[in-house]
Amino acid sequence: MPSAVTFSVAPDFYRHAVSEIRLALPVSVVRRLGEDAGVVELRTGPEDASAQHRLANAVRANEVQFVRHLAAADAQTKTSALRGGPEVAVDWVLDAVLDQIEPGDEISLHVWDSGQSPYAPGKVRRPLLEALMDAGARIVTSGAPSTVSVCLGEERSTAGVGPSQDGLIDWAGGRIRLASRPDQISRAGFKLEELFSLIGTPTGTTAIDLGASPGGWTRVLRDIGFSDVITVDPADLDPRLADDPGVRHHRTTAGEFLHASAGSQTPVDLIVNDMRMVPHLSAATMVEAADLLTVGGLGVVTFKIGTSNPIKQADESLETLSEAYDIEFVRQLQHNRSELTVVARRS
Ligand SMILES: C[S@@+](CC[C@H](N)C(=O)[O-])C[C@H]1O[C@@H](n2cnc3c(N)ncnc32)[C@H](O)[C@@H]1O
Repeated sequence: MPSAVTFSVAPDFYRHAVSEIRLALPVSVVRRLGEDAGVVELRTGPEDASAQHRLANAVRANEVQFVRHLAAADAQTKTSALRGGPEVAVDWVLDAVLDQIEPGDEISLHVWDSGQSPYAPGKVRRPLLEALMDAGARIVTSGAPSTVSVCLGEERSTAGVGPSQDGLIDWAGGRIRLASRPDQISRAGFKLEELFSLIGTPTGTTAIDLGASPGGWTRVLRDIGFSDVITVDPADLDPRLADDPGVRHHRTTAGEFLHASAGSQTPVDLIVNDMRMVPHLSAATMVEAADLLTVGGLGVVTFKIGTSNPIKQADESLETLSEAYDIEFVRQLQHNRSELTVVARRS
């Protein structure tokens, strides 16, 4: 008996995500829903957990790195079958989910599209929300134990109910939206904010930011309470950081900085690295920098893997990184373009 799960990815990395899933799990079929989503059916024995739970575990174990978000897929259809109007789509979803919902259940409702779907998600979401409330469900914006998910794909659509925890991120389609602030220095800051929303905010007082310019990550670190951020970049920081006594800028390369700091820098609590650099060199720099990090301290690095052979590049770079760190988290976040975000703990 196959069991199915919908997954979201960056469009350019769809085929890489599928390769990873095939390696990690017994896939019987994968179908594309639209540009940034697919549905995978797993061969399932009577003792096996749901496909969503199994794929969520493979992502949590970092065996699958390019999947951003998961959703239950109790029902699938060709999207052309839903073209009679939004009410046709709503009835189809209700058929798939209503018998799994009890009056009083607290649920999140995610409706999103992938590629050109016949309806804007809101056209289906609103009547669906009313129908679920009529059935006695309490719809909440976040934090519900279960999520009703609907992906309106260009080719196919899916719907189902699953545990919110196994969605990986509590945003429809994984498309987290973070508010820009007037004092925001660069959009790159969103990468770190998204990461911390997933893994929790690190604590500590001192941090090193390699490849810091113009200073988006530095601003985030200052905002979450790091009182001493050492920034390293041959380029300047944004002038808004110039008067901040909690920021000390070294206008040089990471290599020069590490060479000059060897033996003289008190170890810091956190090293972040968003350097524009080939991944294996970036990983080697993190290994070299490990002496400046307290044992148990966190390293955060983005590997700029590009789209040619990204799995091989990631594997090789992670192997290098593991010479000095335990790898805790590897994921292509919504705010990562052709890169992976890696969290590693100094071993
Ligand atoms: C994507 S930007 C960093 C953005 C930054 N994290 C932010 O939030 O504003 C990449 C930076 O890496 C820096 N970089 C590239 N090679 C470097 C090296 N060898 N040492 C230090 N910085 C380097 C570049 O100068 C550039 O400013």
